[in-house]
Amino acid sequence: MAGQPLPDIARIDAHDKVRGATRYAADQPLANPLYAMLVPARIAKGTVVSVDASFAERVPGVVRVLTAADFPGVPARQAREGPPPPPPTIVPDVGYRGQPIALVLAETLEAAIEGAEAVDARYRRQSFIPMMDSPGALREPGEEKRAGDGASALKLARHRVDQHYVSPTQHHNPIELLAASAQVQDGRLVVHECTQHSAGVRDVIARSLQLDPARIEVRSPSVGGGFGQKGTPYGHSAIVAQAAMLTGRPVKLVIPRGQIFHLASFRPESHHHVQLGANESGRLTAAVYHAEHEQSPRGLFPPSDYHEAPSRLYDIGDYLGTAANVRIDRQSPGYMRCPHPHPSCFAFESAVDELAAQLGRDPAEFRIANDGRIDPLTGQPYSSRFLEECIVEGARRFGWSGRSAAPRSMTLADGTQVGWGMAVGAYPSMMVPAVATLRVGADGRTRFTGSGHEMGQGIRTSIANVLIQGLGIEPEGLEIVLGDTGAAPQHITAGSWGSAGAVPVAAKAVARMQSALQQLLSGRTVDGNIHRRLASVKRPFIEIEVTEVAPGQTSEALQSLRRGAYAVAGPEYPGFTTMSYIAHFVELHVEPRTRRIRMPRAVAIADCGRVISPRTARSQIQGGVVWAFSAALREATEVDPRYGGYLNCDLADYVVAVNADIGEIDVGFIDEPDPRANSMGIKGLGEVVMSGASAAIANAVFHATGKRLRSMPIRIEDLLA
Ligand code: MOS
Repeated sequence: MAGQPLPDIARIDAHDKVRGATRYAADQPLANPLYAMLVPARIAKGTVVSVDASFAERVPGVVRVLTAADFPGVPARQAREGPPPPPPTIVPDVGYRGQPIALVLAETLEAAIEGAEAVDARYRRQSFIPMMDSPGALREPGEEKRAGDGASALKLARHRVDQHYVSPTQHHNPIELLAASAQVQDGRLVVHECTQHSAGVRDVIARSLQLDPARIEVRSPSVGGGFGQKGTPYGHSAIVAQAAMLTGRPVKLVIPRGQIFHLASFRPESHHHVQLGANESGRLTAAVYHAEHEQSPRGLFPPSDYHEAPSRLYDIGDYLGTAANVRIDRQSPGYMRCPHPHPSCFAFESAVDELAAQLGRDPAEFRIANDGRIDPLTGQPYSSRFLEECIVEGARRFGWSGRSAAPRSMTLADGTQVGWGMAVGAYPSMMVPAVATLRVGADGRTRFTGSGHEMGQGIRTSIANVLIQGLGIEPEGLEIVLGDTGAAPQHITAGSWGSAGAVPVAAKAVARMQSALQQLLSGRTVDGNIHRRLASVKRPFIEIEVTEVAPGQTSEALQSLRRGAYAVAGPEYPGFTTMSYIAHFVELHVEPRTRRIRMPRAVAIADCGRVISPRTARSQIQGGVVWAFSAALREATEVDPRYGGYLNCDLADYVVAVNADIGEIDVGFIDEPDPRANSMGIKGLGEVVMSGASAAIANAVFHATGKRLRSMPIRIEDLLA
């Protein structure tokens, strides 16, 4: 089934989801549980001198209050080569406002909440740095990304753009809140947590509490929205585990949204200085680009990755990318959908639009004219690249040729300003090793166990499509076990490598199963589907195990996977670089009196290699375009510089796009397999969708209004007067 398009099947989990039967982390039934609530620090930096739990302990139903004294101290610093230190559990040193300082355990959720509000603490306060432009924020250079000599080439350029762009602090707001439960069962610690990284949670609990990871199981079968927030193991997992071990009862914690804003990872504010150069004939020849972002004192989210996509959008042989962390006193920022390319392609693709306008060129045609075949950073070819095809198809579907080029030249009868904008994006296509088992039974059942986490993106449906088509089975008898450290070695599901990590191994399992069946039948012709054939020859089941690695990886990668270590490959593989691509075209309407911006239609065409699950792939793109609209025009977290926390930490005040903001989103795929990337020709999809999408929107704002706005979110006040 290497090359054929796969049919559009329904989501394998749709029926359970709409009936409310899907069990998320907080839905797992527990016998006689304790309900937990964290107590957040009320200072931004300093030390907890003492915790007064006496009032909390008098609240009816409160059973116990845990403080730093109930936890092992911070583990000694790890060896240089080893993993970074685990996130702190409950410790006296406070590094950010909202860090947990105590945990209240109670017979009811209401008592836990009341108890947590009654906990008092005395602190020794220290001065702190809340924002990247606050005095004292330390700028620490990151790695450079270079091709040729960007600075010299820029000096020689005939045409230049030199601009600054800003992407704000933004927070993930999946509907499912962070939640974990822990219980001791038969000498094992069993944790249910909504995470994209069950093995990471297991290992962090083990290291924080000095336990043997082999005695811990973490299960995360269904996550209610992730996109990076649930990829980072947090300290609360070990806190809940310790509470279950100390009390001998199951413990359940659901973290309220306001606390999540303060302790989960988020998209950091980032500043982008982009300088582009072009020669007389309008070829892009030079880029000098500095990106920096807000960063916690020991945070690891790397600033140099802002260059991973912009450097590969065009044939720019001379590219100098510099980057910096700006160290401040808030919690660690991290990966949020399209983590680096969303802000960096907003900046870069706005600058490219400015340059095209300066040169009097059509922005779509200008981009096609500057397309490239070689990765400037490595000198390697791209394994596949259909960016030009994305632009051409997007322009055709959108009707781009009907655009009137001049800003403010398209208005409706009521004075509504119409803007047509476009931009492109790219995202590294990565892959992880995988181990999977497939068991097909004579009883009509099929069970697949593998690495990966379902967070609504559709990984189960992708695996299912390959199994259903390849084995000729019905979805009803099919069970797909994911995100369970007790069932298969698990890798973090992030960076859009979910499908590439789970689907090729599923295809291999299908092939291995078919040959095992042929061997069993040894030439006999037996009628019926695979289950019937097993029944006819009186074989109860066949079970096989298969493994898969990425191009260039060896069995060492499988060992890393089994240990729970990071083993991601790409986008630079031996001999080639693999990126996913997208082209966005949007129409915006700016209301003449209120200046409210809405998007009646958008077209997005993606090159993500072969499409495995058409339905969930389309849905991924629609969701990403919605999020990009929201990120470009609505979302910003307001930091309180006085206290170091966040002011709009709920869904009423953290403004996101609503249905009425967005009309039709037309989605298309090039659907050309990339045979070098993996056996199924898959490239990543989830993240690339947001790459360049915000720039298309900002470019459309310029086209509608004549205002070039370089700071997200672009809001009504930016368009007044
Ligand atoms: Mo993604 S932001 O790496 O879950």
